[in-house]
Amino acid sequence: MGRLINVSNRVPLAKTAAPGGLAVGVLAAMRARGGLWFGWNGETSGQEPGEPEITIRDSLTYATIPLPQTLYERFYSGFANGTLWPLFHYFLAGFRYDDQEYAAYEQANALFASRLLPLLAPGDLIWVHDYHLISLAEKLHAQGARQPIGFFLHVPFPHYEVLRALPTFAEILRAMLAYDLVGFQTETDRGSFLDAVRVLWGAQAVGEGGTVNTGGRTVRTGVYPIGVDVEAIGQSAAKAASSAPVQRMMQSLVGRRLIAGVDRLDYSKGLLERFQAYRQFLESFPEQIGQVTFLQIAPLGRQKVQAYAQIRDSLEQSSGRTNGRFADADWTPIRYLNRNFPHATLMGFLRAAQVCLVTALRDGMNLVAKEFIAAQDPDNPGVLVLSNRAGAACELTEALLINPYDTRGIARAIQRALTMPLAERRARHASSLANLRENDIHRWHTRFIDDLLAARARPASRRSAELPELSAFRH
Ligand code: F6P
Repeated sequence: MGRLINVSNRVPLAKTAAPGGLAVGVLAAMRARGGLWFGWNGETSGQEPGEPEITIRDSLTYATIPLPQTLYERFYSGFANGTLWPLFHYFLAGFRYDDQEYAAYEQANALFASRLLPLLAPGDLIWVHDYHLISLAEKLHAQGARQPIGFFLHVPFPHYEVLRALPTFAEILRAMLAYDLVGFQTETDRGSFLDAVRVLWGAQAVGEGGTVNTGGRTVRTGVYPIGVDVEAIGQSAAKAASSAPVQRMMQSLVGRRLIAGVDRLDYSKGLLERFQAYRQFLESFPEQIGQVTFLQIAPLGRQKVQAYAQIRDSLEQSSGRTNGRFADADWTPIRYLNRNFPHATLMGFLRAAQVCLVTALRDGMNLVAKEFIAAQDPDNPGVLVLSNRAGAACELTEALLINPYDTRGIARAIQRALTMPLAERRARHASSLANLRENDIHRWHTRFIDDLLAARARPASRRSAELPELSAFRH
């Protein structure tokens, strides 16, 4: 096969912010296949970017560009994170739409396409990641690219009734149909996408196996739940357990049991509900007061989007309230940290935890849930309390599944996790680990790339799906 070209807005070079879950998967694909990773360099400039800067790090090749300041704000803080992110996570109350921001999104996608195009060779395979770059295939085709292009959505895809709150939802769907292969985290996400296609193009547009036929071309769809490198995490967590930062943290617990949460600070992660649930847990089970410590690590991001500044304030108040009410001279109930740690240290913290809280109100997958399972000592594993609204719940059915809005239910699950007998903890952990091994990170990228190669084998027609009369959908 030719080179693999990964494209995402965020790339994991040091000068950009913490890369998050997407980077784990793309890095694994790059390490296995080599190739090029194209994206934003994390900087803004006063003018249009020139040629991409090539960086080679740890034998991987990156090509990056800065984005013009105003464009970046309207594209990234605006349409990507003020419109698509809340919409795709079902937060219509926090959703907004602005024509200018949508235009900037299209412009940023066209800019990515124009700077990527000169780097492409005929045999390349292009894999585009996530909601920032949905229009990239359309723009690449318009500029003459003929390589197969796949798209993977790392976040959920909303049901049609939510999707249609977006005035340009039909354009977004059409842009997704410009790919040769569109991948989702769960069957529910793919089902929502196909339902929306049926509404716009009719039931006959969706064929067997979830292929979509519109405008004389066929688009394959698939479900590729992203996984983790189970062995590597297990080893790194075991090694980190004796590292200085993890040892210091353990000593500071003075024998108390650890409840851990690790999330990028985002309103979709259900942190406010989690803090409230922990308070209710202390109220409902007073024998646990002073016996446990809740460590919540929540690095900041997207602070220019108002909703992120608001949730930050609310969380500070909430953790302060709990600590003010329950803390003692020698005990702080919640340790709430807005900073990041090296990945190995995080794995060490997760290994040390008896309970991990993943209470996302909606999440495409949630790799922390999977990392926690992979990081545990199988002889004495901790317990995962997992939101039934995270993609990971489809596979990790042996976790204690909770509704993230049911704070009393979460409180009870914490107590159950802390008092669960060893045999049950082992059995649940073994079953979860087996699921993780079956669907690990290597399977994720291998299956996607194999399917994209199969899509390449078909004769390519580059005609876009024609949009139906949109006025019918705009009221
Ligand atoms: O969940 C989607 C995602 O792309 C993650 O993979 C990643 O953690 C995060 O969003 C990156 O967000 P940002 O680029 O805004 O920091």
